[in-house]
Formats: sequence, C-alpha cells, structure tokens
Amino acid sequence: MKQLNRRQWLRTAGLTSAVVATSKLGYARDLAVMPQMADNDPMVRLASNENPFAPSEMVKKAMQKALDVSYQYPFSHYKVLIDKLAKQYDVTPDHILLTSGSNEGLRATGITYSIFGGEILTAQPTYSALMDYAQEFGAYINAVPLDKELKFNLDEIEKRINTNTKLVFLCNPNNPTGTLLDAKKVTDFCETVSKRTLVFSDEAYYDYITEKNYPSMLPLVKAGKNVIISRTFSKVYGLAGVRVGYLIARPDIIERIRPKIMGYVNLLGIYGAAAALDDKTLHQYSLEMNEKAKKHIYKVCNDLGLEYVPSHGNFVFIKTGRPIQTFQQEMLTKGVMVGRPFPPLMDWCRVSTGTMDDMLKWEMATRKILG
Ligand SMILES: Cc1ncc(COP(=O)(O)O)c(C=O)c1O
Repeated sequence: MKQLNRRQWLRTAGLTSAVVATSKLGYARDLAVMPQMADNDPMVRLASNENPFAPSEMVKKAMQKALDVSYQYPFSHYKVLIDKLAKQYDVTPDHILLTSGSNEGLRATGITYSIFGGEILTAQPTYSALMDYAQEFGAYINAVPLDKELKFNLDEIEKRINTNTKLVFLCNPNNPTGTLLDAKKVTDFCETVSKRTLVFSDEAYYDYITEKNYPSMLPLVKAGKNVIISRTFSKVYGLAGVRVGYLIARPDIIERIRPKIMGYVNLLGIYGAAAALDDKTLHQYSLEMNEKAKKHIYKVCNDLGLEYVPSHGNFVFIKTGRPIQTFQQEMLTKGVMVGRPFPPLMDWCRVSTGTMDDMLKWEMATRKILG
C-alpha cells in the first residue's frame, strides 16, 4: 500500500473536520469513519486500547497452521477453543458463547434484552456498545453519571432499578476511566441485583488488574445467578485484529443470546486464541510493559500538572482541559492518535499505553501542545 503523507492521511481518514463519529453515549459506532491506515503507517496508535505487541511465534504458527484448513467453515472447529476455556474457568462448555470480538457479544446481548422495549441501566461514560445496540432496538438507556472518583455509582444504579429494567451493565475496570470498583461492594451489588434483573459484567480489562485476588463475577455465574461476563483476546493477548471474544453465562442465558449472533469467529482466531491461552510469554510481557508505560504517562501528567485517574487498564484518562475534538486533531498533526470523545467528559482524553518509543512520541506531542 502506498505510504501517504500526513496531510493526505488526515484527508483520507476524513479527520480534518470531524474526528470519529460517536453515539450519544460515546461509542464509535460508525466504523466507516474510523481512520484507515496502511500497515507501515508511522502514526502512533494510542486510540483504541490495543496491545502494542504482536503475539508470540507459537501463536502465529497456530494461525498459520489454521490457513491449511481455511477452506472450511469455522463452526466445526469451535470445540477446540470452547473446551479450553471451559477447562480454564471450570464451567461446562455450554456456559460459553464465542463471539467475533467481545463487541459482538455485547451487541447481541443488547439486542436480546431490548427488542421488547424496557430499560438498560448503566453509567456514563462507559463502554457503550451494548447500550448503543439496545437503544437502536427500542430500549431506554438510564445512564447514571459516574461518581466523584469517576467510578460507577452502584448505590444510585441500584436505586433506579424498576419493573422495566431488563439489564444492568457494568464495565470493571471501566473504559474510559480505568477505575476499579471495590471488590466486596461490586460482588455484593451483583449478587443482590441479579435477584431482580440481569447483570452484565464487561471484564475486557480484567487481566490488567494488579490488586491481589480481585474477584471476577465468574463465581456468580457458576452459582447459577443472572449474571453474564464478557472477556476478550483483543487486549492482553494482542489479538484484536482476528476478533475473538466470548460470553460466560448460565446455559439458558447463552441460548437466548446465541440466535442474535450474526457471524462466526474466524478459523485463525480460534486457533490463535487457543494457542494464546497456553502462552504466558506475551501475557506477562504485556502486563509489565503496560505498567511501565502507565508510570511514564503519570510522570508526564505530574510534570505538566494535569489531573488523571490512576488506571487498572491499558490506558489512562487525563483531564487536558481542552475540547477533546480539538486536542485529538492537534495530536494527529503531531503523528499521535489518542482516544475519542467520551461525553459528558469532553475536556478529558483517553490515552492507550504503547511501546516505550510510542510513549516518548506521545510525551513530545503532549508537551508541545499542553506544556
Ligand atoms: C470495555 C470494553 N469492552 C469490550 C471491548 C471490545 O473489544 P473486542 O470487541 O475487541 O473484544 C472494548 C474495546 O476496546 C472495551 O474497551
């Protein structure tokens, strides 16, 4: 692919006037306007919470091997990955639904619990893929502002549950704030609330949590509660490009959601993800490098006197004090892509962690603009 210069690139990606279209809740819903990049583009990618490191040789080999059978439909290969996941989580295979990235699981759940109307309760800002789909299909989104620490306000959410509530959506750690809920509080909340309605716990960033013994909501699923968990291979496993995620829930819940799944997880994704589960190298390295990159971001913010939220994910939410659309543009002209708007916090910016080289480029651009 031909290398574009920066101005051509900005024009091609439609970024000179509008950055990335977002829904009211903030999800980048119109993928058609997502920046298009050549694989050798020098732009520093700190906009999508990707892992900046490629999967290991072992994982790549597994994907290469999958090419040999790529003339086959993937569904007859699902068992390879489902059985591994079931073993890892100590659940039966019918508790697991493979999805094309966890986004598909979020969307399918959104559709399942909104087609007959009703209400979805959540916070704002959070990762809104489920809510955006639910809203399209007729749900009312009851979004509670985050509390002073930019965490989900669980007390207020619980208060707002009513007979119309179809589902409560939690994202923990939360995207874009990186905040983590108190372990006991969130477990008690899910246990109590799941007696009244369904609870969805998006655990995309669970692997990045450094707090010892921090609970997943998995034991509640195993205890047969009304709880759904989503996980992904896009983050710490570095497989965002091959689209593998999954839901874990009671088999009857899985069977309700399954018919709304629109595609298949591709063959490379199945074998890549299955191999990645056995490969602790990238996992460990990604976690270590993520901590280093976050420390670097905190240091630059401290130097510049910028408010930020200590993060439990692979990104940091920073109060730049500038409208995010303007700031995003300014950073782009310096070769750095940063996160999209997360209304209503429009003068904050989410920066994903990258390689140390990426972080130095981010630092230079940030100091030039905000220093
Ligand atoms: C909280 C959260 N959930 C889900 C996703 C979707 O990721 P994927 O579809 O790649 O699994 C993201 C992506 O950034 C996210 O931040």
